[in-house]
Amino acid sequence: MPQTLKLILTLAATCHFSLAAADVAYEGSELYLANCANCHGMYGEGDGIVTPSLSVVLQDLRYLAERNDGEFPRWFVTEIIDGRELRLAHGPDGMPVWGEAFTRMEGYGAEAQSRVDQKIDALVDFIESIQIATAEE
Ligand code: HEC
Repeated sequence: MPQTLKLILTLAATCHFSLAAADVAYEGSELYLANCANCHGMYGEGDGIVTPSLSVVLQDLRYLAERNDGEFPRWFVTEIIDGRELRLAHGPDGMPVWGEAFTRMEGYGAEAQSRVDQKIDALVDFIESIQIATAEE
């Protein structure tokens, strides 16, 4: 049914466009691959290409929920990635302060800061999506 297929493709294209136009929609998986996979590995297992040069052994990011009694620790993950508030409490030596790094890319105005938050949110969503133990309600 080429007509149906065409309709689906058109709808898909339109949806994607409206999503992008409504707001800067960041794709967590893309941000992750670009900024995190070198250390944390393609799938979060902690086996990125630079791990041999790190002084610490990386935790598997897919078990954050399991290690937190089955509940994805959203606040903790957000703060660890941002790093500007919570830093060194958990002691992630070698984990870049992404709140600062994204600020250098985006800028300091309110709008730029909202893009920084959106990037971090998208990353947290992505990490939540790769959890192996699903959170128990
Ligand atoms: C230069 C290497 C490096 C990069 C790049 C990096 N991290 Fe990390 N990350 C670390 C280290 C080192 C730790 C501390 C060890 C640990 O807890 O696994 C850490 C810890 C974490 C933790 C806490 C893990 C836990 O179990 O407590 C999260 C979540 C995390 N990183 C997410 C990210 C995200 C998302 C990105 C990309 C935006 C990223 N990291 C990029 C090195 C890195």
